[in-house]
Amino acid sequence: MEPVIEVTELSFLYKDGTRALDKCSLTIERGTKVAILGPNGSGKSTLLLHLNGIHVVQQGTVKVLEETVSPSNEQWLRSKVGLVFQDPDDQIFSGTVWEDVAFGPVNQGLRGEELEARVRQALRFVKMEQYSRKVPYHLSYGQKKRVAIAGVLAMNPDIIVLDEPVAFLDPAGKRALFELLDQLNRQGKTIVAATHNVDIAARWAHKIIILSEGRVLAQGTPALLTDKTIVQEAELELPAVTEIFAPFPDLCKPKTPVTVEEAQNIIKQLVTNSSRGRFVRREKGASYNGWESH
Ligand SMILES: Nc1ncnc2c1ncn2[C@@H]1O[C@H](COP(=O)(O)OP(=O)(O)OP(=O)(O)O)[C@@H](O)[C@H]1O
Ligand SMILES: [Mg+2]
Repeated sequence: MEPVIEVTELSFLYKDGTRALDKCSLTIERGTKVAILGPNGSGKSTLLLHLNGIHVVQQGTVKVLEETVSPSNEQWLRSKVGLVFQDPDDQIFSGTVWEDVAFGPVNQGLRGEELEARVRQALRFVKMEQYSRKVPYHLSYGQKKRVAIAGVLAMNPDIIVLDEPVAFLDPAGKRALFELLDQLNRQGKTIVAATHNVDIAARWAHKIIILSEGRVLAQGTPALLTDKTIVQEAELELPAVTEIFAPFPDLCKPKTPVTVEEAQNIIKQLVTNSSRGRFVRREKGASYNGWESH
């Protein structure tokens, strides 16, 4: 698969001397959904801030769509990679929702009907069209988050990067957000999300990248999250489903479940096998026992 982001040996020092990234290398392929996991302070936000040029590369390289990222191509980079900050209050600053979403496209040079259409479409996509004249300050947190996403969508980037997208969202808000991200992914967008939530990452992502102390500890499919050693080293936890099945290794063959759907399939199989067993025993005229009754 074609890589759209290639980070090679990226290191980053904050002004106070904190080494937030330490020779971090990773690849993100076109059209995939990628979850970046890691404990507090592991460098997730610092990494994401490099992907649209907010942090300038100090050491190592960041390539986006085969271009090496540098201050000279910052404007181009921001049209290709949209970043949704962890806190929408850091992102939303205009007087109305409409103006806020229009900010990026206006900077891209859009005006008139084209601009109107772009903003309307982005707001409709996040179901916030009816709030367009509202003052963002008065919106709920989840609504602000949607506006921040609309602001990124309005710039029509190929790659959408979200820092802790589900923080503070209610269950319906989380579900709606991931449905939205899936819809964008089906349209061909590459989606990268940093999160602490292993259950969401396991269910949602094609690829998992685990950071620890500014380094990539592991990257691969969500099956990585069933590896106790990696999960402990990264100060994460096993997905709830994996935890439930941990005492039953025989049920975890050939694959330990990480998602609710995988667990349901194992249970369905168990139920099917046990009812088949009962049928055979009856056929043979065996006497009934406890588990056969219903
Ligand atoms: N502006 C800053 N100045 C100095 N150090 C910083 C700054 N921002 C972050 N750091 C430090 O850099 C390291 C990486 O921080 P970063 O915010 O990238 O981690 P994170 O994985 O996003 O954490 P969290 O899960 O809490 O969001 C931490 O040790 C943090 O204290
Ligand atoms: Mg962070």
